[in-house]
Amino acid sequence: MSDSKNPDWSCVCAVADLPDQGLSKFEVAGLTVLAARVEDDVRVIPPFCPHMAEPLVESGLCHGLTLTCSKHLWQWNLKSGDIQGPAEKPLKFYPSEIRDGNVWIDASSEVAYDFDEDEDNDFEW
Ligand code: FES
Repeated sequence: MSDSKNPDWSCVCAVADLPDQGLSKFEVAGLTVLAARVEDDVRVIPPFCPHMAEPLVESGLCHGLTLTCSKHLWQWNLKSGDIQGPAEKPLKFYPSEIRDGNVWIDASSEVAYDFDEDEDNDFEW
């Protein structure tokens, strides 16, 4: 569903569809996004970890305001997108707002990360 006054904005889901903790995956206007409750607000992010493109719907763990990718333990503040711990790139968000109990995003352009080709050579486990 798009906004008749601003066709770039699309409805992702009802806030009530989102669990208190965790990421939920949605397809919106040709985009795959993940949405999460954050206190009395919502954040909508791209589906991949900024590190090595791990699908965060599987690897992402939410605890309080902290999102952790379980693959290499990069962490972010889910409210601000700021780095926590060893992460090297902040989290990106889709512009979003809650209207009448529904989550809307500006879906006019895909929010994505740049991945360095040699990044996997920097990390050893
Ligand atoms: S792929 Fe997510 S922390 Fe490395």
